[in-house]
Amino acid sequence: MLRTDHLKVTYGVIEALKDVSIDIKKGSITAILGANGAGKSTLLKTISGLIKPAGGQIYFEDTPIGGVAPEKLTKKRIIHVPEGRKIFSDLTVYENLMIGQFSVKHDTSKASNDTLDYVYELFPILKERSSQPGGLLSGGEQQMLAIARGLMARPELLILDEPSLGLAPLIIKDIFTTLKTLNESGVTILIVEQNALQTLKIADYAYVLQVGNIIKEGPADVLMKDPELIDAYLGKQ
Ligand SMILES: Nc1ncnc2c1ncn2[C@@H]1O[C@H](COP(=O)(O)OP(=O)(O)OP(=O)(O)O)[C@@H](O)[C@H]1O
Ligand SMILES: [Mg+2]
Repeated sequence: MLRTDHLKVTYGVIEALKDVSIDIKKGSITAILGANGAGKSTLLKTISGLIKPAGGQIYFEDTPIGGVAPEKLTKKRIIHVPEGRKIFSDLTVYENLMIGQFSVKHDTSKASNDTLDYVYELFPILKERSSQPGGLLSGGEQQMLAIARGLMARPELLILDEPSLGLAPLIIKDIFTTLKTLNESGVTILIVEQNALQTLKIADYAYVLQVGNIIKEGPADVLMKDPELIDAYLGKQ
């Protein structure tokens, strides 16, 4: 569905991605693991058009999309849920969701639509809180809202940057279960996570990024048993 081919990204003199080739199969959950500063967020931002590559290419269903504006990629249903739950805290939960829909469809007059019902079904708490300002939600609820807002755009490829960051274990479990459900309903997922073991449990395939290079890749169930990975990322969990 989407692949990067020898992707290179620089911030001035810093080479954040040196030579990154990944392949995301339609219908899969693909995980990117790696330490802080490895280049994970940079990879996601480059795929969703927020950063222009300095070299290499990105193909979405065989069309080159490297450097294409993010709003055009949104219309191709490549949807990025950024790191750190960037919701609008003064807008209500409902308004936040409508912004997600507005990003792909400018006529939101039929607001009470199937997508909204679907999102409320996945995240019942958001329905209960729909008229409250987003800023009053708990951290976990805000993360659900950020994911839900992405879903309002009906993604083909949902890109998630650290959805579990700073959340309590029970909520993390809920979020991972929801991601699996979403994937089973046909959404392809690309996920970056520090929470490596839990991510490998839901993922099909994973890449390990280290200072701008892929140092390891494989089916998630194989990587889960990899001694080097257990030492570096999985052991402490
Ligand atoms: N806007 C920027 N300007 C300059 N350097 C940047 C910028 N954004 C990221 N970097 C650098 O690029 C490298 C990769 O950063 P990136 O945010 O992609 O890492 P990450 O793997 O997502 O890390 P984390 O786990 O901490 O989120 C780091 O060395 C970082 O300092
Ligand atoms: Mg990051």
